[in-house]
Amino acid sequence: MTISTLDSCRQRLWHELLKRLADIARRFPDAALASSLAAEDMVLTHAVCTSQLPLEMFTLDTGRLHSETLGMLDVIRSQYGRTLTVYRPLPQAVEQHVAAHGAFAFYESIELRKACCGIRKVEPLRRALAGRHAWITGQRRSQSQTREHLPEEEHDAAFDLRKFNPLAAWTEDDVWNVVRALGIPYNPLHDQGYPSIGCEPCTRAIRPGEDVRAGRWWWESSASRECGLHAANTKLPPLAVVTRLD
Ligand code: ADX
Ligand code: SF4
Repeated sequence: MTISTLDSCRQRLWHELLKRLADIARRFPDAALASSLAAEDMVLTHAVCTSQLPLEMFTLDTGRLHSETLGMLDVIRSQYGRTLTVYRPLPQAVEQHVAAHGAFAFYESIELRKACCGIRKVEPLRRALAGRHAWITGQRRSQSQTREHLPEEEHDAAFDLRKFNPLAAWTEDDVWNVVRALGIPYNPLHDQGYPSIGCEPCTRAIRPGEDVRAGRWWWESSASRECGLHAANTKLPPLAVVTRLD
C-alpha cells in the first residue's frame, strides 16, 4: 500500500496536505492538532507523524467515549511512537451536573445536552488551547450543513487564536481512499456503521443512505448538531447566502 496506488488528484491532495501542515508548523510552532481519533484525524495524525512535524496532538476524553475510540491512543503509540496529550473534564463539574440532572440528561433537552458538552468538551478544549496561537481540526465541509462554509484557515473568535481546517475541501471518499492507500490505522467502529464518532451515548450507527452525521445527536434537528468545539459553525451564513434562501 503506497501513495502511488492513489489517483493523481488524491496524490495531489495528500502532498498539498503535507505542505500545508509543514507551513502551519513553521508559522505557528505551538499549534496543536485536536484529534477525536476518528478517520479524518487519523489522516492528519499520519501526516504529522510521518513528516516528523513537532506539532502537539491532543484528545478530549469526555469520559463517555467508546472503548474502541480510546484504544486508538495505544494504536498511535505503537504505530508512530507518539503520545497524545489527554484532557479530561473537571471531576467536580461532572459530578455536580450528574447529581443535578442525571447521567443521561442530554436526551432531555438541547440546553442540557449543550451543558454536558460544555463541561465534558468545551472547558477541557479551553485548557488545551490556553496560551497557544493556533489549532488544527479534521472538519470537512461536506460533513454537515453547519460546515458547508468552513474555511481552511480562520480566526477562532471563541478561543481567540488561528484555526486550521486543512481537510475542509476533502470528501468522505478522499479520506477513505487515502486511509486505505497509505494503510492508516482507524477506529474499528467505522466498519460497524459509524462514519462519524463522538461520545458513546450520543452516537449511533447509521443506516444505508443516511447522512454521515445522522448518527450524532440523532434526536436533535441537524441544524443544532454541534457541540461548541466549533462555535463559528453555528453562526449565520454570510449575508449573500441568507438573501438567496429568502
Ligand atoms: S463534533 O464537534 O461534532 O464532536 P466531529 O466529531 O465532527 O466534531 O469532529 C470534528 C473535529 O473536531 C475533529 O476532526 C477534531 O479536530 C475535533 N474534535 C472532535 N471531538 C474531539 C475530541 N474528543 N478531542 C479532540 N478533538 C476533537
Ligand atoms: Fe455529553 Fe453527549 Fe456532548 Fe458527550 S456528546 S459531552 S455525552 S452531551
